Amino acid sequence: MLIRFDENTQVFHLQGKTFSYIMQLKDGLLLHLYWGKKIPVGHHEDLLFLPWEGASFDSAHSRWPLEVPTQEKGYYGQMALRMQNAGGDDVVSLRYKAHRIVDGKPCLAGLPASYVEQETDAKTLEIDLEDSVTQLCVTLRYTVFAEQDVLARSMLVKNGSEDTVVLRDAQTAVRLPADRYEILHLKGGWARERHAKRVSMPEGNFAVKSRRGASGHENNPFIALVHPDTTENGGDVYAMTHVYSGSFSASVDVGIDRAPYMMMGLCSDVFSWQLQPGDVFQAPETLLCYAMDGLNGLSHRMHSFIRKCICRGYWRDRARPILLNNWEATYFDFNTEKLLKIAALGAEIGCELFVLDDGWFGKRNTDNCSLGDWVVNEEKLPGGLKLLAEKINAMGLKMGLWFEPEMVSPDSDLYRAHPDWCLHVDGRERTQARQQLILDVGREEVQQHIIDSLSQVLENAPIGYVKWDMNRNMMEGFSAVLPAERKLESQHRYMLGLYHVLETITARFPEVLFESCSGGGGRFDCGILHYMPQTWTSDDTDAAERVKIQYGTSLIYPCSSMGAHVSAVPNHQTGRTTPFNTRCNVAMGGNFGFELDLNKLSEEDLQCARDAVAAVKKWRHVMQQGEYSRLQNPFLSDGDAAWQYTDGQTVIVGIYRALAQPNASPRCVKLVGLEEEALYTDREHQITCSGGALMNMGLPVPYAWKDHDSWVYVFEKQ
Ligand code: DGJ
Repeated sequence: MLIRFDENTQVFHLQGKTFSYIMQLKDGLLLHLYWGKKIPVGHHEDLLFLPWEGASFDSAHSRWPLEVPTQEKGYYGQMALRMQNAGGDDVVSLRYKAHRIVDGKPCLAGLPASYVEQETDAKTLEIDLEDSVTQLCVTLRYTVFAEQDVLARSMLVKNGSEDTVVLRDAQTAVRLPADRYEILHLKGGWARERHAKRVSMPEGNFAVKSRRGASGHENNPFIALVHPDTTENGGDVYAMTHVYSGSFSASVDVGIDRAPYMMMGLCSDVFSWQLQPGDVFQAPETLLCYAMDGLNGLSHRMHSFIRKCICRGYWRDRARPILLNNWEATYFDFNTEKLLKIAALGAEIGCELFVLDDGWFGKRNTDNCSLGDWVVNEEKLPGGLKLLAEKINAMGLKMGLWFEPEMVSPDSDLYRAHPDWCLHVDGRERTQARQQLILDVGREEVQQHIIDSLSQVLENAPIGYVKWDMNRNMMEGFSAVLPAERKLESQHRYMLGLYHVLETITARFPEVLFESCSGGGGRFDCGILHYMPQTWTSDDTDAAERVKIQYGTSLIYPCSSMGAHVSAVPNHQTGRTTPFNTRCNVAMGGNFGFELDLNKLSEEDLQCARDAVAAVKKWRHVMQQGEYSRLQNPFLSDGDAAWQYTDGQTVIVGIYRALAQPNASPRCVKLVGLEEEALYTDREHQITCSGGALMNMGLPVPYAWKDHDSWVYVFEKQ
């Protein structure tokens, strides 16, 4: 880790473990020069600038690689920073003013951000830029980490003038040299989140975004540029992710010189921010990750970073409990007796946590009422949550509880008392989804109401886990209390309010494990993982679908952040029947759990469940904290997939075959990252091989005699 400024060449050189990021000051402008494989400090001055000089129709500056591209100096591409100045124009001319190199990693006021525990674990460069006409001041922050291989970037905007101005866009931008690239992003929808998509980089603009008020099922705040020959294990990857859970935009803008600008930031369709004289605006953090060793290289760096520098608290490094959730077992149709019967068998096979999902409060027997009324329904649960939780605890299980705190049902006491507390536009219909509306969490009284009502429940019953759901996105997402000129601040104010609530609640109940959810994986991002270290990956629990969803999710997010449950067949989302052992093997790709009535299983499947629980307990330190690599991509092989975890000593390999084939050709799965000369033994399958053989010849895949077959191997290094 190093940050160096050379007075002579005016070059800033930031070094992570394996990357360099270089900028230079020229005529007061901050220019981006390089992001890629680590290079030595100094002795590259003769290379600076050459690519950007030469004749052009536009002004000579038009092809300068501005670190913060704005409307100035003949630049015509996408802007990273856009203002509406007091005079109505949007010209912004940023010039260098000062810089500082400090130890550690400053917090970002009110926002989630990466962090370090010791000042010596990181170094931060702050560069102040200023527009001398409008007195707009911008502070860029860049942090490099001693033990991690990611660059954290953010931008603070200050109105230093005597006038009111409006911030219209605040993005992190990085310009790469012109080359052949493909864009990798995560596309999806409800129940098919984060499918990995790779498309040729167009000449023009490519964007994925959300204006839903949540990062969303449809697009994830992640984008990467890769070369066409980049594979899982080789080639360059330039990736960006957002430490933010609301609407976002991630784009690649290719200028006339074919050099792409990658950008990530707030979604300007639903954002603007008024800055009074002296006001500051902190834009969310963006994480930049370069890997020269392919997509697995990207994942190794991001998994480690998210586990250590994004997730926090008591559960960050602890083994995650094996849970049993009643949602797909009962939906709303439960009572104490039914729940205890399911929990008892869960306890018997070794589960550690019983989660009571939706339907325990108000008069909620279906999804048309009671959100906001967080008071137990004693008709269903006589004696209340305390009694139920004590009975669950007596079985040796912790008790978990579902909430959807940001929502309100029109049919609820809360809505009857405060009909104005939801996001809406006066005089217009309040569009409902799942028969619910969204509370205006940007308002302090709403934040306090959520904090008080959840605290009341958590203080009065021994609850060890909370599933924090959010089942709809914003429409008419405007705060009733903001004036017209500030209406477009509503969504970001909501996020700041939500982060305040989450910070307060998680600090007040530090040993409670929080899992986020948004109709499955509709808010799976680094912002939410800062408060809740795991997310329910998808409402789709079908093993065949999950292979794809977990593949895409694993590009960025660690297995310890992905909830993965074994459910009943025919599957409730697809109607598909997969073998029980495959459902277990696939759920071992994340935080393992069950979401079915175990009492309905055959003896054989119940034994398989017992074995899976024992295996997860034995190996979860490898699966949750070890290094995860993808060995076979289901999007390129008709759904077949393979993956591997290792902590250096134990190597766990999962292989999944989608469809059985007659006369199938023999196949091998090549392991990665082993020691060539060391011997590895899988006792159960009686295989002993060198690391070299497993990585180059590969592990032969057994013949599949049925659809959706799967196998797990556990090798120990001798
Ligand atoms: C959506 C979640 O993803 C499900 O797991 C379940 O909690 C339901 N909401 C409950 O309404």
